[in-house]
Amino acid sequence: MARKFFVGGNWKCNGTTEEVKKIVTTLNEVEVPSEDVVEVVVSPPFVFLTFVNSLLRSDFHVAAQNCWVRKGGAFTGEISAEMLVNLSIPWVIIGHSERRALLNESNEFVGDKVAYALSQGLKVIACIGETLEERESGSTMAVVAAQTKAIAGKVTNWDNVVLAYEPVWAIGTGKVATPVQAQEVHCELRKWLHENVGGDIAASTRIIYGGSVNGANCKELAAQPDVDGFLVGGASLKPEFVDIIKAAT
Ligand code: G3P
Repeated sequence: MARKFFVGGNWKCNGTTEEVKKIVTTLNEVEVPSEDVVEVVVSPPFVFLTFVNSLLRSDFHVAAQNCWVRKGGAFTGEISAEMLVNLSIPWVIIGHSERRALLNESNEFVGDKVAYALSQGLKVIACIGETLEERESGSTMAVVAAQTKAIAGKVTNWDNVVLAYEPVWAIGTGKVATPVQAQEVHCELRKWLHENVGGDIAASTRIIYGGSVNGANCKELAAQPDVDGFLVGGASLKPEFVDIIKAAT
């Protein structure tokens, strides 16, 4: 089954109005093979969501970098899924390792966030990934399987889910996973989906890689059979993000 290549750009906590305008202008000029080949979703900080959404070409889309775990209300500082829907923001990143580490977001909490976001009609980029210590101790698959299980148990519509494998040791470090390392985990994750969720969903769900992807390493990673795209951090703020989009075959 052909899975549409997915290129996500996670801008994290970066940007000024001028910088955002420049990035969007570059994105609006990218010649992509076609909407059938690649899906592009960029994720600015909350404060720029509607601004980017208003300027971005209609075949690219916008994601929030997080949303609250239930209906809005007395949760100072939080952004609700309902607000994103109200602002016509179709995607949301959930469970990013920086939030898991810095804000102690547990597997269960991430699963509950995925459930609520899907219940409100959002599409979800659900993030998983092991730390260097976990990899060096040989527990990579145990860790990412537990993270995936907590998410999978709450998914009501797999068509609206993209699974992002982001080894924590590769995020922001320049130490990108080798194509073999990435393919190995993606293949195991697809097997996990096949055994625990079902064959059709395993075949159709996009599993994307994140962690120091750039214009130089994207092609070899994209050539791996179970790498269905990327979630790009630093390089998504640079012109080389265009090269990463074009790595879609
Ligand atoms: O969400 C993507 C991000 O974690 C990857 O960051 O800068 O290593 O591409 P970076």
